[in-house]
Amino acid sequence: MAILKLYTYPDKILSQKCEKVAEVNDDIRKLLDDMLETMYEDKGVGLAAPQIGLAKRIIVVDDKVSEDGTRGPHPLYMVNPEIIKRSKEKIWFNEGCLSVPGQCAEVERHYAVTVKYLDYNGNEQILEAEDYLAVIIQHETDHLDGILYIDRISRLKRNMILKKLKKQSDN
Ligand code: NI
Repeated sequence: MAILKLYTYPDKILSQKCEKVAEVNDDIRKLLDDMLETMYEDKGVGLAAPQIGLAKRIIVVDDKVSEDGTRGPHPLYMVNPEIIKRSKEKIWFNEGCLSVPGQCAEVERHYAVTVKYLDYNGNEQILEAEDYLAVIIQHETDHLDGILYIDRISRLKRNMILKKLKKQSDN
């Protein structure tokens, strides 16, 4: 496994629409392993392929809570994830992103989503997620359409974050 380089705003890769994966083969599995290791290394709860410079529809997620409620590593590998159902109920969540380092903001999301995807072995799965896990999945699938959480907040807050980011990178 390997730690991959992270791409940060305003890199162009982060605003691209990513392409579907044709087949979950050994190359894709290696990528999934490396993405998960990179995510854990950077203490993230989700990572999308464009964040490591690849415009492919792949995400890894770990909210550290299993279906039975126990806490611990609980990695989810999702290839070609597609949200097929969204709750009317919304939730506000304080989100950050490894590609927008050191910043965070409240974002409005659907409280629950149903996501269809191919797992590590290429099998189709359907997962009903709510609360924190649903928020992470919405954040990560947004990445695959070139959308960052800062695209979903007010222009005022967005500009404040961009200003701070610029200050960070000037130092
Ligand atoms: Ni992100």
